[in-house]
Amino acid sequence: MTRIPATELPTGAQRRITVDDEPVLLLNHEGSLHAVSYYCSHMDYPLEGGTIEDGLLVCPYHGVGFCLKTGEPDGPPAMNAIRIHKVTVDDNGDLLVTANPNQV
Ligand code: FES
Repeated sequence: MTRIPATELPTGAQRRITVDDEPVLLLNHEGSLHAVSYYCSHMDYPLEGGTIEDGLLVCPYHGVGFCLKTGEPDGPPAMNAIRIHKVTVDDNGDLLVTANPNQV
């Protein structure tokens, strides 16, 4: 688990963090918090800088959209899902990011 003060992730921000030795991209999209694989499943380029459209994080390199709920790609050239992790907010307002144990 990794803890981040909420003030470090304002609306619209994207930030690379490490969760259990795994690089993770933490996103605040219009107040919705998401934590996903930092690297794209297609060619391992960073997903940081991708836009969010209709619930998809769009890879800035080849335009594949990854569902922010399931991690599944919306089509080729990516064939595999990215990892989706859990983000919660504790009583102090800190963000807690927990690696998803069900996705390897
Ligand atoms: S590197 Fe992300 S779609 Fe190609």
